[in-house]
Amino acid sequence: MALVTTEQMFKKAYEGGYAIGAFNINNMEIIQAITEAASEKKSPVILQVSAGARKYAKHEYLMALVQAAIKDTDIDLALHLDHGDSFELCKACIDGGFTSVMIDGSKYSFEENIELTKKVVEYAHANGVVVEGELGKLAGIEDDVNVSADDAMFTNPGEVEEFVSRTGVDSLAIAIGTSHGAYKFKPGVKPQLRFDILEEVGKRLPGFPIVLHGASSVIPELVKEINETGGKMPDAIGIPEDMLRQAAGMAVCKINIDSDIRLAMTAGIRRVLSAQPDVFDPRTYLSEGRKEVKKMVIHKIESVLGSENKL
Ligand code: G3H
Ligand code: 13P
Ligand code: ZN
Repeated sequence: MALVTTEQMFKKAYEGGYAIGAFNINNMEIIQAITEAASEKKSPVILQVSAGARKYAKHEYLMALVQAAIKDTDIDLALHLDHGDSFELCKACIDGGFTSVMIDGSKYSFEENIELTKKVVEYAHANGVVVEGELGKLAGIEDDVNVSADDAMFTNPGEVEEFVSRTGVDSLAIAIGTSHGAYKFKPGVKPQLRFDILEEVGKRLPGFPIVLHGASSVIPELVKEINETGGKMPDAIGIPEDMLRQAAGMAVCKINIDSDIRLAMTAGIRRVLSAQPDVFDPRTYLSEGRKEVKKMVIHKIESVLGSENKL
């Protein structure tokens, strides 16, 4: 099998009313957990790398690990740059073997965003790589872009057709009330998403794949386990799973999940270290973290994304 773009994955997902999980990778255990889960569930999957992850693990290590995962699991994988913030970073990932890049120009004006995105699209398409753009700002932390909840700006559906036609992007991330990180809604606040915006965007761009960032559910059992094993996470509320299923049945074809991976890994590692304080072999606790991430990805595929048996 091979590294592939997201083109066919998104086409099938749009038509089938489900979504593809895009999970952030940072190390070998996370890559193994995600790809083993996808392979067992016969689910398409996207592995995505942030600028921070690329710096942490290094480009060549990530490429080699992803190639190893393709051999080991015998499934196709899409390898995507998450929140690329410059043409140079996107170019480095395109030249270095990624099959998809995101250029996140959401912090710029509409015209500047179009100009930057178009430049990336031209280079990517000339090299057989697909591009995700973003219109609207999410609350929370996007690498170096820190947008407070008050500044969160929903996508204006009136702008999407012009953005897509002038840039030539292959998919579009929109802001409908999700946010990055583990603290999306304050305790006591009822999570709400702007499904009216998603619906309007879907009408204006028929058949076009939409991306949902900041889509972790902040699984309560994982937060509970972290806190029961000495962690100190404040109450955290994520995106309810029924809302993600609803979005997957609409124009959303890609659902981004990072925080839930972090929680699963941390809960698994803490479980071992708190039950067996004498353990100092990293394999003992990293394997439990890996097991917990795999379980979480299987849960997402089965109960949230609807992508099981869609290879
Ligand atoms: O959207 C951002 C992702 O969760 C990546 O986070 O930049 O800390 O790797 P990171
Ligand atoms: P979460 O923080 O909700 O997992 O979002 C991840 C994301 O959007 C990566 O681009
Ligand atoms: Zn994101």
